[in-house]
Amino acid sequence: MPKLKIAVLVSGNGSNLQALIDAVDNERILGRIEIVISDRPNAFALQRAEQHGIPSIYIEKKDSPFGSFDLQLMNKLDEIQPDLIILAGFLSILPTELVKKYQSKIINIHPSLIPAFCGKGFYGEKVHKAVIAYGVKITGATVQFVDEGTDTGPIIFQQAVEVSNEDTAETLAKKLLPIEHGLLVKAAALFCQKRLKVEGRRVKIL
Ligand code: GRF
Repeated sequence: MPKLKIAVLVSGNGSNLQALIDAVDNERILGRIEIVISDRPNAFALQRAEQHGIPSIYIEKKDSPFGSFDLQLMNKLDEIQPDLIILAGFLSILPTELVKKYQSKIINIHPSLIPAFCGKGFYGEKVHKAVIAYGVKITGATVQFVDEGTDTGPIIFQQAVEVSNEDTAETLAKKLLPIEHGLLVKAAALFCQKRLKVEGRRVKIL
């Protein structure tokens, strides 16, 4: 089976990107990361890409002579023509036109059990702080296809963890990251094997 072309969008440390790079290297994911695109200039994820010889670019959020962020992002992805786009800790909202064009080909990882603690303003540490503040007994991670909403797409996998009374936002983040990595790699691997089938709001594993 030919290797699928993957584009990874990042904003931060890139631990999810690293998990993807490692899974591509050990052929768990039958794909090739063609490009890493960041909306933050100093995202360590860009260094991870460079260390692995993966082309990477930073696209400035504010308008530039090359056009808006959205336009530059669309143009770069049009150039690459990826089969799969993975949002790995990416904090910008994608243009609707992009989501429509790559329908059921964009995967996102979110550090909660959607539909809890998600939507506008719920990302990274803010999610864990809200979980602790609410006092829920379980939380988890969700990997889903991206649709026109925010964290509203069809869910591929979820995995729960217990929240103890001693947990803080920091300990929760640490507990969840390896789970996120596992879910994201599993979803990307199955996508590249063409074993994810979206039927309305449900995702079936073939
Ligand atoms: C993590 O909080 C993760 O939950 C979210 O993005 C944050 C950074 O992830 N998806 P990474 O280390 O940059 O992949």
